[in-house]
Amino acid sequence: MIKFETKYGYLDQDFASWQDRVTKAHNALVQKNGKGNDFLGWLDWPLNYDKAEYQRIKDTAEAIRANAEVLVVLGIGGSYLGARAFSEMVLGLYPADREVELLYLGNSFSANYFLQVQNTLKDKSVYLNVISKSGTTTETAMAFRMMKHWMEETYGIQEAKKRIIATTDAARGTLKALADQEGYETFTIPDDIGGRFSVITAVGLLPLAVAGVDIDALFAGLKEGMADFSSPDLDNNPAYRYAVARRILNESGKVAETLVTYEPQLAMFAEWWKQLFGESEGKEGKGLFPTSVVFSTDLHSLGQFIQQGSKVLFETLLLVKTPTLDAIFPDDGQNLDQMNYLAGKSLDYVNKQASTATLHAHYQDGQVPNLILEIEDLSAKSAGYVIYFFFKAIAMSGYLLDLNPFDQPGVEIYKKNMFKLLGKPGY
Ligand code: PA5
Repeated sequence: MIKFETKYGYLDQDFASWQDRVTKAHNALVQKNGKGNDFLGWLDWPLNYDKAEYQRIKDTAEAIRANAEVLVVLGIGGSYLGARAFSEMVLGLYPADREVELLYLGNSFSANYFLQVQNTLKDKSVYLNVISKSGTTTETAMAFRMMKHWMEETYGIQEAKKRIIATTDAARGTLKALADQEGYETFTIPDDIGGRFSVITAVGLLPLAVAGVDIDALFAGLKEGMADFSSPDLDNNPAYRYAVARRILNESGKVAETLVTYEPQLAMFAEWWKQLFGESEGKEGKGLFPTSVVFSTDLHSLGQFIQQGSKVLFETLLLVKTPTLDAIFPDDGQNLDQMNYLAGKSLDYVNKQASTATLHAHYQDGQVPNLILEIEDLSAKSAGYVIYFFFKAIAMSGYLLDLNPFDQPGVEIYKKNMFKLLGKPGY
């Protein structure tokens, strides 16, 4: 279900020379005795997930779908990006048969953004899913208090309680305590699954199911990925080959990796990928800086830099073999726009020619290494498969850098400064 191609990668080492290091890292991962081994719950989750909670997620989603027009998802980072990335990937940006729209709050302090979203909720049937593992994240906690008040004023206190669902730590934290006190339905973020790996838990699954994504199919993809990327053998594991290719390019002097997609509905997928890769690898002065572009849109902006700018980056092309929708370009009797040479061709055909043309321009003329990942389609099953692919790849990549891919100590520093400025007690 995924093809990984390195022939345009300018890789100056062969994969075999990395096998011993990969085997060692793989053993540390599966034997759970490497760095960050208390955050490896995602590894076996496709088989060992909490079945009772999974059924409750489906039941709750169905009940919400029967009553809601909008589900507001309140969360930031790993508590938000997965739901947005994979609902857009699978359903598209403007789904024709949308029953419940997902809107997002708690991912910013912007008053403009908060009020714009809140204003669109008037006269709609609204449910809230507040998601925070720690329960103390300021962006989410502020937005939640304001939205809780709005819900209570709009629906009354008792009805608001039925419309608010909390996804948080099983036992600890202020959000858990608040949710229990108010009697909200709650879902659990397992202790051993970090935020950026949590899309496969209630964090991602509840909003995705409410939006209309088939989470059973997503789980089928996860399971298939778990089986397909289980081998330590570089010849049989494209996730590990990708991890090694990234290391080779980093060691050869590249400092940034640009994820390229030709599908606008994958733009948020790229944001999810950036968090997963940036937080996992960017520490101890190491790691590739993850960036992204959507082509052909960005060929009219950043394409110039990639083609002829400083040689700091390589591209990873995320191609989609079969689009969900396609359209035929029509013939025009007058041909005033002189576009008849494309009449009868499909939009996807033209998109794919643009991608081939760009690959050769960047690789040959620009000398920019290109790694190619091709997925089958934008289905829920492919989403699950590609999630597991990137999980396994970044875990390997982090271990090859001899760091802990599962923590994010650097994100705490700005928070301390901000709390001091805001006068939070204890700072
Ligand atoms: O990857 C991470 O751990 C972070 O991006 C968190 O997901 C983010 O900070 C949100 O944290 P929390 O779920 O505790 O509110």
